[in-house]
Amino acid sequence: MKIDQLLYQKYNKPTPRYTSYPPANYFKEMTDYKTVIQAIENSNKEAPKNISIYIHIPFCGQLCTYCGCNTLITNNKRLINDYVDTILKEIELLKPLLDDDRKISQIHWGGGTPNFLPITDIQKIMHKIYANFDTITQPEIAMECHPAHLTKSYVDDLVALGFNRLSFGIQDFNEQVLETVNRQKPLLPIDEIIGHIKSYPQISLNLDFIYGLPYQNLKDYAQTIHKAAELSPDRLAVFSYAHVPWIKKQQKSLEKFGLPSAEEKIALFEQAYDILTAKDYVPIGLDHFAKPADELSQALKTKHLHRNFQGYCTLETTGQVYALGVSGISQLSSAYLQNTKSITKYIKSINQGIFPIEKYYFVNQQEKLIRDIIEQIMCNMYIDFKSVASKYQLQVEEIYKITQVDFNILKEFETEGLLNFKNDILELTRQGQFFMRNIAASFDPNMKNNQKNFSKAL
Ligand SMILES: C[S@@+](CC[C@H](N)C(=O)[O-])C[C@H]1O[C@@H](n2cnc3c(N)ncnc32)[C@H](O)[C@@H]1O
Ligand code: SF4
Repeated sequence: MKIDQLLYQKYNKPTPRYTSYPPANYFKEMTDYKTVIQAIENSNKEAPKNISIYIHIPFCGQLCTYCGCNTLITNNKRLINDYVDTILKEIELLKPLLDDDRKISQIHWGGGTPNFLPITDIQKIMHKIYANFDTITQPEIAMECHPAHLTKSYVDDLVALGFNRLSFGIQDFNEQVLETVNRQKPLLPIDEIIGHIKSYPQISLNLDFIYGLPYQNLKDYAQTIHKAAELSPDRLAVFSYAHVPWIKKQQKSLEKFGLPSAEEKIALFEQAYDILTAKDYVPIGLDHFAKPADELSQALKTKHLHRNFQGYCTLETTGQVYALGVSGISQLSSAYLQNTKSITKYIKSINQGIFPIEKYYFVNQQEKLIRDIIEQIMCNMYIDFKSVASKYQLQVEEIYKITQVDFNILKEFETEGLLNFKNDILELTRQGQFFMRNIAASFDPNMKNNQKNFSKAL
């Protein structure tokens, strides 16, 4: 697969990642606590009815220089204990706000490094959740893990708790790259720990990689991706390195090693794409690949793929997301609520019986419609505007008016071979898939006179 260089230069400009609509930098400072709590209560009446819980564990053993996540490097056991106790209290605070007939369909542990916590802490939190909420028959229970802290017995204990999805950050197998970005080494050889995970057929495995780091080159990165495919995970993520040193100051230090140029970066991705698709992995969205039998590939086929802050998922399992822990974002049908990023403030607030929500956004009907369209583009690469119109009981012309889409721009995308648009149906081409953030942005009225700073589109 070749990405057109001229189009790449034209479209590689700051564009939202659209993990939410509106994106998180549109969220407002929280001023009225009561209405925010009301929003949580109102979510009981909205679809989807199921509950997804997101738990953010910010701790890590060592700072990877490229990292864009919300993390704290610490070995302070007292702070970690206090944090875990606070999550238990946050579950107790949330419980009375949600109707008893609502069930958990998904639990996602992200970070940071959730498996940096002793397994006893994970057990405490999971038991607290199970004691307070019912679950559907087969909830999806996932953890983002760092192989530096993963033993076989830890995996066994996770399985005993009901975990059925594990994701590993690998980033690259090349040692020079890993040392340059200050990445901790895996505790056990990767094939050994993966071999152990595979002895549990119920576990679906994802591996994360990044391209665009210092010292990455086509030859070595090909070896990394071939090795990844040999390990045969159910899913892989191949993320474009997001260099945002104005937000993540430590990233600046990578510049002295020399970051791959835009052309080199694109070639690294094209190569990874070719290797993985040749091994029958199905490209999902911008940066994911899944085995053909995986639920994501199946959902893409039937145009039921969905996405939230935690990544791609299927409509069947996705509930309204209630986030626990620092910086977590609850993603409800009509509101986004973000917890404080400060651990001290988080602990203090929960101890006073107050949700530590610092930012919020209430999504109005028009924004829901735009969100639907953008999600369709980012996930299924296909929209039938007539069916969107009928869902919102509007005329199709009104849909175009609300999104403020410029038909000349759509025509330009079409001439460039990025999409087909006919009879109110828009479908991205293979090439268009790489430019989905730009195509999505053309349906975002906020981008018409945008003053915000985003990472580059590709
Ligand atoms: C929370 S971490 C995964 C778990 C664990 N902390 C680890 O690193 O193995 C989430 C993933 O985000 C990706 N990531 C982190 N910073 C990034 C950046 N600046 N650009 C692109 N991807 C990034 C990495 O691939 C990482 O595996
Ligand atoms: S990439 Fe993972 S381990 Fe590294 S600092 Fe970020 S969250 Fe922590």
